[in-house]
Amino acid sequence: MRRPLVAGNWKMHGTRASVAELINGLREQVLSADVDVAVFPSCLHIVQVLDGLRGANVEVGAQDCAVDPMQGALTGEVAASQLQDAGCSLVLVGHSERRLLLGETDAEVVRKFAAVQSCGLIPLLCVGETLEQREAGKTLAVVGAQLASVIEALGIDVFVRAVVAYEPVWAIGSGLTASPEQAQEVHAAIRAQLAEQNVEVACAVRVLYGGSVKAANAVELFGMPDIDGGLVGGASLNADEFGAICRAAGS
Ligand code: PGA
Repeated sequence: MRRPLVAGNWKMHGTRASVAELINGLREQVLSADVDVAVFPSCLHIVQVLDGLRGANVEVGAQDCAVDPMQGALTGEVAASQLQDAGCSLVLVGHSERRLLLGETDAEVVRKFAAVQSCGLIPLLCVGETLEQREAGKTLAVVGAQLASVIEALGIDVFVRAVVAYEPVWAIGSGLTASPEQAQEVHAAIRAQLAEQNVEVACAVRVLYGGSVKAANAVELFGMPDIDGGLVGGASLNADEFGAICRAAGS
């Protein structure tokens, strides 16, 4: 049985004050012992969140890292080794906002994935198609190619210590959610692609769904056989809503 994971991606949101409020709200949530929960604050707030959530059974991750794992001369970047030193346990890799708005390539995603693992952290690899690609019938090809770039460069065994998130770009922040069936189809394809290399690894890896997940749609989505939790953006900025999504993953 795969243990569900619900991850909150706070993106470029928050001030010290609003983050403090969110921490307090999260501490009040009753979380199921059967669900892993993680939040991904902006880099600036990681230490505040780690301190604030100490003992709360919530993992803290980063939204990105440098392609080089170790600290060094690379102005403006943060190394996975620094994130590990700070106390992070996970790092998002290849979020569509970075791929599409900041031009991050598959090759960079692969390097970041490897950097994260080389520091003992868990990469959460994001994949997903745009609306144009979906309408052109290319969803499985696009997602398959994003996944293949990591498998081909690093091998299948890296997925023993990784999480995958399927996030259709058209569903992110749009209020449009993939139907549970649409999401399941892609999740099953991701698992099948991993299974071509190693069935055991494919069966064990957690594949999260992301894209306008809310408390109101979480139960249905998380009820699908290959959906192992969610990567939640907007709704993770509200502690009560996020708490309800986490509880949905345990139901
Ligand atoms: P959303 O974002 O929940 O606001 O759609 C999800 C994400 O980008 O990870």
